Amino acid sequence: MGDNRLIKLVNFIMSSLSPSHRIALEQRIQPLLQAQRQEPVVLHHDNTAYVVKFARREAGRLWREHLSSFIIWLLFQQRVSPYQLRAGSIAHEAQRLRQLRAAGITVPALYLETPDYIVMEHCGESVEYRLRRTPYDRDLLQAIVQSLIQLHKQQQWHGGAQVRNLTIKNQRLYRIDFEENTGNAMPLALAQAYDVLLCFNSLATHIQQNQTLGVELLQRYLQQTQQPEVRHLLIKVDRYLQRLQRLLPLLGKKLQHSKDIRQTRYFAAILHQSLQADASS
Ligand SMILES: Nc1ncnc2c1ncn2[C@@H]1O[C@H](COP(=O)(O)OP(=O)(O)O)[C@@H](O)[C@H]1O
Ligand SMILES: [Mg+2]
Repeated sequence: MGDNRLIKLVNFIMSSLSPSHRIALEQRIQPLLQAQRQEPVVLHHDNTAYVVKFARREAGRLWREHLSSFIIWLLFQQRVSPYQLRAGSIAHEAQRLRQLRAAGITVPALYLETPDYIVMEHCGESVEYRLRRTPYDRDLLQAIVQSLIQLHKQQQWHGGAQVRNLTIKNQRLYRIDFEENTGNAMPLALAQAYDVLLCFNSLATHIQQNQTLGVELLQRYLQQTQQPEVRHLLIKVDRYLQRLQRLLPLLGKKLQHSKDIRQTRYFAAILHQSLQADASS
């Protein structure tokens, strides 16, 4: 049996719910549906924790998609339709979970799929919370970057690669939240470069803008992935961000010190230094 078919078979067996669990969970989900719950909910049954994620259409999503499309155009000089970037339905998320798991990426097992919700494996604590408690946990930071490297080496993309969409269970990192459609809306290298941007930008606050550490982590990504197209796109972003930095004094003091600008400046600095170090190594 081929590797892929074996993974699919193992997935299928591991992802099957017993009928009694299924009925018990469905009964507990019904009132949540009636109450129109939006946020994912954790349910415990028979000593097992499950996460229920509901179908939803957040107000303001289209605005966010237009903003993402604009940012991609600014940074990468590539046009991507905001309509293609539209966050997918819950069926889209279920499909992504199945595909990624079959590709060997650590994502939650999918137990139930309906038009209104999905039920998946509870994959532990949010990495965002863990980092807030221990911001300089080098092992954790390296594991985060290693997980991005592995994802990209498998020719995959996340879409929502910020650390808030990672969880940790039994010292293993899981990727969650696959509503975004970036990888279907743009070439793979661009979706991966966008993942790099989101991941490292989201690390900024946690490592207190420690540049040496950021450079070390980003360099690790560049050296281990060796993807010329992603690198080329990141060089474009670097050029753009360096030009943008020169305009910063034109902004008011308050804006200059806003969280978003500080994060972007941090990313600009570590990207520039990592690319330089990578080119000379
Ligand atoms: N499978 C899971 N295991 C553990 N926690 C989860 C899981 N799925 C979601 N969560 C928790 O719920 C939060 C929101 O879920 P997410 O899928 O990221 O939805 P949103 O689109 O609201 O960001 C996550 O940040 C995480 O803390
Ligand atoms: Mg999320």
